[in-house]
Amino acid sequence: MKGTTPAGVSTEQEASRWVRDMFGRIAPRYDLANHVLSLNLDRRWRAKTVQRVSHILRRPGARALDLCCGTGDLLLALQAQSVESVLGSDFCHPMLTAAAAKIAHRGFRCPLFEADALALPLQDGSLDLITVAFGFRNLADYQAGLAEMRRVLKPEGVTAILEFSQPGDTAFGKLYGFYSRKVLPLIGGVLSGSRDAYSYLPESIEKFPSAEELAARMLAVGFRDVDFLRMTGGTVALHLGTK
Ligand SMILES: C[S@@+](CC[C@H](N)C(=O)[O-])C[C@H]1O[C@@H](n2cnc3c(N)ncnc32)[C@H](O)[C@@H]1O
Repeated sequence: MKGTTPAGVSTEQEASRWVRDMFGRIAPRYDLANHVLSLNLDRRWRAKTVQRVSHILRRPGARALDLCCGTGDLLLALQAQSVESVLGSDFCHPMLTAAAAKIAHRGFRCPLFEADALALPLQDGSLDLITVAFGFRNLADYQAGLAEMRRVLKPEGVTAILEFSQPGDTAFGKLYGFYSRKVLPLIGGVLSGSRDAYSYLPESIEKFPSAEELAARMLAVGFRDVDFLRMTGGTVALHLGTK
């Protein structure tokens, strides 16, 4: 498996288009569904991510990009701690439109650009930090995604990948499995108006590499000091790596 494989999709191009169209459909209700389905824990996961990279954000001249920024929640949290303007990118126009409105509302100046994470319009070695929250799992090719992130980082640049993970075969894991397979698609479908988006979510999480495997893949593309932190019983993991 190179990357995400939504049901009924057979090529990388189709997977990429399926993901973009799906996020385009749910963009207006994405934030509400996110906060409700995660019981607001998504804010805490993003806050932890910001905390882990804040030493870079405080550095004068630091260039940071929030990849797959969606409606901008991590981008805003990063910007609140940053001395420089944080960039945001995503390949789904309606998500970027929602992010732009939130950035303007907060009075921030975060440049946004529309781009596929697998082909960023950035020079080699141009960033000090790349973050990606709940976007990496949706890439059509994980290896290519990691290599592209590494390409645009400066030497000593850091990447932080916040992503869903599998809690393992514990009592909590079983309860979470029931919630994500049965409850989440129902509530997510009602809140977002798109049942397939919230059936895709648990499927894509189950197919996604374990935290150990993602760490191994980061090392394989050349990141060093690779480490991960599990949160909320292992349902989410924050991976860090340095170029
Ligand atoms: C689950 S949302 C996460 C948004 C945001 N980072 C957050 O924490 O709420 C995933 C985002 O990744 C974007 N995305 C998925 N695949 C992408 C790709 N190949 N290139 C750029 N953006 C992508 C989607 O358009 C969507 O906005």
